[in-house]
Amino acid sequence: MDNDIKKELMIVIFGATGDLTKRKLIPALFQLYKKNNISTKNPIVCISRSDMSNDNFISRLDMKKYIPKVTKDDLDDFIKLIKYHSLDFSENCNIDKCESCDNCKTLAMAINTLDKNNQCHGNRIFYLATPPSTFENISRIIRKTLPENCKGQMKIAFEKPFGFDLESSRKLNKSISTIFNEDEIYRVDHYMGKALVQDILLFRFSNLLYEQVWNNKFIDNIQITISESMGVEYRAGYYDKTGAIKDMLQNHLMQLLSLVAMDEPQSFNAVHVRREMSKIPTSLKLPHKNDLVISQYKRYLDNKNTDTSYIEEYGVSNKSKTETFVALKMEIDNNRWRGVPIYVRTGKRLKSTFAEMNIVFKDVSCKLFPKGTCYNNSSNTITIRIQPDTGIALSFNIKKPGPGLEIMPVKMDFCHHCLFNLNTPKAYEAVFQAIINGDQTIFTSWDSVESSWKYTDHILDIAKNKDLSYYGPGSTGPKEACDLLGASGRKWIN
Ligand SMILES: NC(=O)c1ccc[n+]([C@@H]2O[C@H](COP(=O)([O-])OP(=O)(O)OC[C@H]3O[C@@H](n4cnc5c(N)ncnc54)[C@H](OP(=O)(O)O)[C@@H]3O)[C@@H](O)[C@H]2O)c1
Repeated sequence: MDNDIKKELMIVIFGATGDLTKRKLIPALFQLYKKNNISTKNPIVCISRSDMSNDNFISRLDMKKYIPKVTKDDLDDFIKLIKYHSLDFSENCNIDKCESCDNCKTLAMAINTLDKNNQCHGNRIFYLATPPSTFENISRIIRKTLPENCKGQMKIAFEKPFGFDLESSRKLNKSISTIFNEDEIYRVDHYMGKALVQDILLFRFSNLLYEQVWNNKFIDNIQITISESMGVEYRAGYYDKTGAIKDMLQNHLMQLLSLVAMDEPQSFNAVHVRREMSKIPTSLKLPHKNDLVISQYKRYLDNKNTDTSYIEEYGVSNKSKTETFVALKMEIDNNRWRGVPIYVRTGKRLKSTFAEMNIVFKDVSCKLFPKGTCYNNSSNTITIRIQPDTGIALSFNIKKPGPGLEIMPVKMDFCHHCLFNLNTPKAYEAVFQAIINGDQTIFTSWDSVESSWKYTDHILDIAKNKDLSYYGPGSTGPKEACDLLGASGRKWIN
């Protein structure tokens, strides 16, 4: 998108009363405003079912809480951009009567007036921060509220999850493809907006040092962990129907894996990058039942642990068998990766919150040095820390000082946030900026979504025939997740 068009643009958020809008989307737009990347010429239209005044909506956004160090002056300026509208876009809203529906007419008029007053020329970003069940309906409403002769640039962003399974995602994609072109569709996975995730491609493909050894000849295993100390909080209604496999494996873990394992794209252009990324979920071998661990957090009454079990959380059924933790051994069936186990794990109410990837090289130290001088765990390892402290570390071996020849692993550690923290945009800021720029690189292509769901559906089938294990809240996960690696003499890198 060129600069002039970028300046003349309306942002429309559906699901404006939701948690995501309050905690992430509005703070991200505020930061873009502070950096002059959006301006008073970019109205932010916020839409939800709940009926309330603009002032009431703005106070519910609680911006002082969610935007660190914000001043009153900054806020007074920024809130002038925000216009709230209520509209029922659930199943009750009869799309076929949209033209005659007062709700839609009022919204269309409001949007078109704002467009005219701010000279947006019909350039609009629609951001759907609502459950996927509403995506189809909202897409149709958007189309119906656009004036016939609208010549502006249109972009529509869908929050994850894109569908609930392969069938529903295909149905959804088919339907929205009749309304929008693929180059107008932005399927959001906010992990792709994180600074270190965006760094992975450059780290791999702009450093001669690493790419040459990025294959099964040199790499022993890859580990990807997304650990959360939070429980389900107030999102039990959503989470209990979803579970860790659909909530994290199908999207965030799959995208991280695709970045770390993809082949070099023809260029860094969105089409080429997304094409290579989409080949990874398609190339995954179907795992065996023993390669999967599903688990749920549960307090153990015998050790005075007063934490809550998952089934005791507000809004969760006391018979729930939903997995709050998943670990899986995966394998990519291509020439580069065949034979390399890829271990992924994610869970809630774990000991700490962090996301990282470990690329563990084959251990050669014990082949060269006499027994007793090498550790079992002296493999070279590249650690990519995605959050909270971002950075990349390389562990390698040196001689332990002193007499004799003893190997000692040490680390070279690049701390990304120490160097760039103040200037690093948060994930949703990067997401909005990329949509504004019309750059689809960090958004999931339909091919990726489809093949991820195909694989995930298979994992869900396996999970149906597996017993759920349990782990203590505040622990590093169930014992079974360690056994997954232990069987081959490996260990999670913690
Ligand atoms: N929260 C997060 O951190 C997060 C992170 C990543 C992705 N997401 C995804 O983002 C989406 C929104 O998440 P959220 O946490 O903000 O959810 P939320 O707090 O439940 O809010 C959902 C929003 O959608 C509207 N809504 C819900 N059901 C609707 C229906 N049937 N018809 C019309 N409107 C409906 C609600 O508005 P009214 O009830 O006022 O109309 C509300 O504004 C979800 O798909 C979620 O998976 C959330």
